[in-house]
Amino acid sequence: MDKQREDTSPALEAELRALLGKLDLERKVRLLTGADFWSTSAEPLVGLRSMVLSDGPAGVRGRSFDERDPSLSLPSGAAVGATWDTALASRYGAILGAEARRQGVDVVLGPTINLQRTPYNGRYFEAYSEDPLLTGELAAAYVEGMQAAGVGATPKHFVANDAETDRFTADNQIDERGLREVHLAAFEPAVERARTWLVMSAYNSVNGATMTENPLLRSPLAEEWGFDGVVVSDWTAVRSTEASANAAQDLVMPGPVGPWGDQLVEAVRAGRVPESAVDEKVLRLLRLAARVGALASVSPAVDSPPAPEDGVALSREVAAAGMVLVRNTGELPWDPARLGSVAVVGQNASSARTQGGGSATVRPREVVSPLTGLRAALGEHAVRYRLGATATAGVQAFPPEALTNPVTRGPGVRVRYLAEDGSELSTEDRLASTLVWIGDVPEDTETIELRTVWTAPAGTHRVGAAALGRLRLSVDGADILDVVTRDEGEVLGAAFFRPPSAATPVVLAGGATEIVLRYTGSDPDLPMRAVTLGTQTVLEDPDAEIAAAAALAAESDVALVVVGTDEAIESEGFDRETLALPGRQDDLVRAVAAANPRTVVLVNSGAPVLTPWRDEVAAVLLGWFGGERFGEALADVLLGVQEPGGRLSATWPATGSERSIATGVPVDGVLEYAEGIHIGHRAWLRNGEEPAYPFGHGLGYTEWGLLGVEVPESVTAGEPARIRVELVNIGDRTGRQVVQVYLSRPDSAVERPVRWLAGWAVVDAEPGRATASVLLPQRAFQHWADGDWHIEPGTFTLHVGLSVQHTLWSGPLTVR
Ligand code: BGC
Repeated sequence: MDKQREDTSPALEAELRALLGKLDLERKVRLLTGADFWSTSAEPLVGLRSMVLSDGPAGVRGRSFDERDPSLSLPSGAAVGATWDTALASRYGAILGAEARRQGVDVVLGPTINLQRTPYNGRYFEAYSEDPLLTGELAAAYVEGMQAAGVGATPKHFVANDAETDRFTADNQIDERGLREVHLAAFEPAVERARTWLVMSAYNSVNGATMTENPLLRSPLAEEWGFDGVVVSDWTAVRSTEASANAAQDLVMPGPVGPWGDQLVEAVRAGRVPESAVDEKVLRLLRLAARVGALASVSPAVDSPPAPEDGVALSREVAAAGMVLVRNTGELPWDPARLGSVAVVGQNASSARTQGGGSATVRPREVVSPLTGLRAALGEHAVRYRLGATATAGVQAFPPEALTNPVTRGPGVRVRYLAEDGSELSTEDRLASTLVWIGDVPEDTETIELRTVWTAPAGTHRVGAAALGRLRLSVDGADILDVVTRDEGEVLGAAFFRPPSAATPVVLAGGATEIVLRYTGSDPDLPMRAVTLGTQTVLEDPDAEIAAAAALAAESDVALVVVGTDEAIESEGFDRETLALPGRQDDLVRAVAAANPRTVVLVNSGAPVLTPWRDEVAAVLLGWFGGERFGEALADVLLGVQEPGGRLSATWPATGSERSIATGVPVDGVLEYAEGIHIGHRAWLRNGEEPAYPFGHGLGYTEWGLLGVEVPESVTAGEPARIRVELVNIGDRTGRQVVQVYLSRPDSAVERPVRWLAGWAVVDAEPGRATASVLLPQRAFQHWADGDWHIEPGTFTLHVGLSVQHTLWSGPLTVR
């Protein structure tokens, strides 16, 4: 996609330098730290307005986490990765660009393109793939789509922020080749080709230097790849004055207080930081401002962005395109005309996880659960639901439609911010009973009060809350709970990402029930907090509940079991300890499958989970965190309206303890990337270990045959190669296939992966012949040695297939 403007023209650069010349040192330095949590400072002297930054990466949240100001929620990165579809990734970026503009946001903090190096990573769901080429291409497409809308993209977190354990301090030790061929390679296309306007520096260290001070910011990022944009720090990642200012770190976020400011002014005056370093950063910031239209004297990079497409429809399309059908004994697709009754089972069926936890979370207007989506497609009467087992142990928010604000009598919750002496500082009328604050709790707040009227079903409920600190709860005027919750982990993790739950049983007659929560945070200075008021599901007799679900399945034509993870397991801020599904979900699948051979399992997780029952069920579909239209996309796929378009963009382990799985846990502060270039499936191949499902695997609803492969006789070193694959769709319906091309080099003089991904093409075809044209970039033939890229002349072996293990054709390709 072409930029709308020569965005580094000599005239523009001269103008930026002229503006820079008008600023004294104090004014320049002030610009280099955020004005607040989400914006940069304005400088009227040069006609610079403040710029707004927002998370990112699967929606645009805006300045606050507020359900009254909803945002589009797209499927998470793992789903995007599974599409393998760069055209779709570009549309995904474009729609977020439009979302950003709608909300007055100039910069989106995404895409997340760290690699899915270990499935234990709590933030795996945000990333695209374990493969650097696939990640890099999808990221570049996202950036191009977004920036064509005039909004800055921020590939993050540079570099190798592939796990959450000790994320602020871990020192990742990565050898040169692993760094270049794997981790930096994932960022390179977004910088070099898509010319991203920002990059976010990570919390972690690489090879001894924390990323906000790391020489990699200068080279390769700026000097070799020509990055001329802004390196924005991850939030609070800059922890020094001189070392970070002398590095190619440009912008400290958040502000207004930070390690630069007056201390940097002083360091420059004392000659410890050259003023030219400050000038360089300010120039980059002004260049960004010029691009997004924040400089009065310069017209923006994009004057009139293209009209956005329908984001809700796109969310549904991406969710279906990313669903991976890893097993199908012929059960799917279901023919709605022949489905009398469907048993739907599992907690995530009725309250699915459609996005991952942490900074990536947005508040969508509406979320379609699997149960709702199927009922809408098949009719209420055809679908019967049973919980079967719980997937979450924590307190879950009340359904918003069951809440009445006692003051306004409209929907929702009355929130009061109270000072230490109990006086009211301010109030809000909110629509949900999960509330999140990022830097926007009113000053001097000691206690936050939530008051609502819950239209409760009659019976016993465990009413409670999840938040870190003191929780006082009353129901219909009676005090039922007064506890102080604690957490073992880091404070921010507990207060924000994974607040601990407390609940107590109350017997309710049903109907209007007044609930009041007073929450006093553990640390009034913490800028980020979350509280959820609601109920906790604790089954009195879990075996009986599983049996009841199995009985429902036995009397239905087919069964769908939705299993998954919860926010206490997959989130930013911490890693997973096990890949097993929480609770009794494995037992539930087995019981339902035993009761009905036509059992389909939908896995609702952002990362691999163990599937010990996978050969006992008729079909297994991976749905990821599928965004706000998840349930509709699921119905589309189950009923064959859409292909399950996805292919695995990372290996799914069988036991979770295979040695091919890299660890994300530092030892004495150091995390060894011992695998070097053998990330993900490359390690599985090298070790000869059999995963549950290999990289690239996924089934569609039609059958394919290979007619031929056309390979050039030889390729000139340093040039890309194009190969053509002739296929035939031998089924009777239109289908999607992802044709994958791998390389190997058995006689190589250098260490190589057993096979590595060199290119792919997504093919949509009606019954009959189809052609896939696959471009193998020159980098696919190169390796890094002695500080440079090299091509080993001679003959590579090309493998064309449908996964890293499923090869249809192999042949030689010579590089001269
Ligand atoms: C995350 C970033 C995010 C930032 C702002 C950090 O904790 O690592 O990905 O963009 O917060 O929310």
